Amino acid sequence: MLYSKKVMDHFTHPRNVGVIENPDGVGEVGNAKCGDIMRIYLKIDHDTISDVKFETFGCGSAIASSSMATEMIKGKPLSEALELTNKAVAEALDGLPAHKMHCSVLAEEAIKAAIQNYYEKNGIAYDAGQFPDCESCSHCASCDKSGN
Ligand code: FES
Repeated sequence: MLYSKKVMDHFTHPRNVGVIENPDGVGEVGNAKCGDIMRIYLKIDHDTISDVKFETFGCGSAIASSSMATEMIKGKPLSEALELTNKAVAEALDGLPAHKMHCSVLAEEAIKAAIQNYYEKNGIAYDAGQFPDCESCSHCASCDKSGN
């Protein structure tokens, strides 16, 4: 089978779909490879993600990845959420086909963008090196513009 049971489960019954009114942070990213879009909303209490919702205009793998990624960061400190990688999301889904790995990058980048938005809105100093600067890089560890 092309997709694992977990991918099918999170695709057909995605967790945390929707919008948070008055979010503390919002991140929206587009996938350079396919043009799909993901938006993540965060509620943050004392540096901990108390709630998270997502909207994805993307494929089944992107929906499953977003669903799993939001489950993995809910209730976690921001420092831990910032360490989430698309590879960890794919592993938690029991794998994605190689040509679908790029779909899981959306979730990682959208979470990082939402946390960055929270820091900026609240004037909180942060290490810019923790956030991908996709405009000026040709490749990075989490984004595989060069490959999948
Ligand atoms: Fe675009 Fe999967 S094909 S996110």
